[in-house]
Amino acid sequence: MRLKIEKLVYNGYGLGKAEGLVVFVPFTAPEDVVEVEVVERKRDYAVGVVKEIVEPSPYRVSPPCENFGRCGGCQWLHIAYEKQIEAKKEILAWELKKKLKEIPEIRVVSSPETHYRRRALFKVENRFIGFYQFKSKRVIPVGQCLQITENMNTALLSLYSFPSILKNATEIWMGEERKGEQLLVFIRSSRKLKEIHDIFRDIKDRIDARLGLRIAYKGKASTLGIAQIEEEIMGKRLIYGFESFFQANRYLTEPLAKTVVSAVSEIDSPEVLELFCGAGTFTLPLSEVAKHVWAVERNPYAVRLLKEAISLNAVENVSSVREDAESFIKGWERKIDVLILDPPRTGAKEVMKEVNRIKPKKLIYISCNPTTLARDLALLDGCKIERLHLFDMFPHTFHIEAVAEVTF
Ligand SMILES: C[S@@+](CC[C@H](N)C(=O)[O-])C[C@H]1O[C@@H](n2cnc3c(N)ncnc32)[C@H](O)[C@@H]1O
Repeated sequence: MRLKIEKLVYNGYGLGKAEGLVVFVPFTAPEDVVEVEVVERKRDYAVGVVKEIVEPSPYRVSPPCENFGRCGGCQWLHIAYEKQIEAKKEILAWELKKKLKEIPEIRVVSSPETHYRRRALFKVENRFIGFYQFKSKRVIPVGQCLQITENMNTALLSLYSFPSILKNATEIWMGEERKGEQLLVFIRSSRKLKEIHDIFRDIKDRIDARLGLRIAYKGKASTLGIAQIEEEIMGKRLIYGFESFFQANRYLTEPLAKTVVSAVSEIDSPEVLELFCGAGTFTLPLSEVAKHVWAVERNPYAVRLLKEAISLNAVENVSSVREDAESFIKGWERKIDVLILDPPRTGAKEVMKEVNRIKPKKLIYISCNPTTLARDLALLDGCKIERLHLFDMFPHTFHIEAVAEVTF
């Protein structure tokens, strides 16, 4: 069938209409006219793949990566960056308006378009290191990647020079300090890798950064070099470790933290409850403006890193709690000025009932999924989004990071 792409939607697909159906087509751009082969047909929608681009969209650019269209890492590398931002704004507004009456103007914080990503998980299969194919578990080999940092690309080249890694590794995680001065590489292997010292030396010789290398085999891990990275965010020292969560865009981590801190500091000396705090990206900067921060996280490793950072910064007004956010908030009896939520993609549905009970003066909800953000905010007994920010943490992908500042 032939159709014109009207817009982009949240999973990255282009949307068009034909034969009474809404048709979703990956790797298209708004205003493309495409000939499509339908690969899945339901009652009121279909999914297609492009057979021919009949009239290319004016927003198309030449994608600067040979893996584009196969690799699951980028969905919009063929679309001009300004158009990607416009599409993300529209998607965020559309998702929220489906559930809420009014939303404010969206403030966008864009990102440098390449080498922004400082945390990534690679898969190893058939002697190649790569990312999963779009919508599949097949590994697409990645030689060099436009998203990841220069040091990570260099480390990737080094790893390719070790046949035993290509043969035996199953997964490789890399994480870098914001300024590129420290790099962690974590290899999971199905066999013992004897050359840990050679691998360490080879990567180290190629990069100008402190290095930590960990190799895990059958639940046992050996580590050489640094075991964690330390970085400064808003004057506070943060600690992240092998495979720990931290914001993936090296350019937007601090602007994101500044937005959260600035929203909190509008209330004088507030008491803050922060759920889903990780290793404390917002917690420690918040300690400067808050009377007290209760920071809740369920991952024991992240809690350990946060506790270490609390003593490193000699901060006395932060309590770190290891617990599930849902059970913690159920037992919370105190009045609170500000509640901060930064849940995973699944959102914080169970928490929202308790937010209605506690009624903080302000809620700051940081979300990596506009669908669950809209669902959760709609569960509140009346709320007003005062400000809405879109941080483009992942250029060339459909991912959207939003911050909603909510009052009641
Ligand atoms: C999106 S990350 C945010 C971390 C932190 N705010 C940051 O910016 O670095 C979500 C965090 O929530 C934690 N988490 C997931 N489910 C949780 C739950 N039910 N209760 C508490 N923490 C949870 C994860 O371990 C992860 O650290």
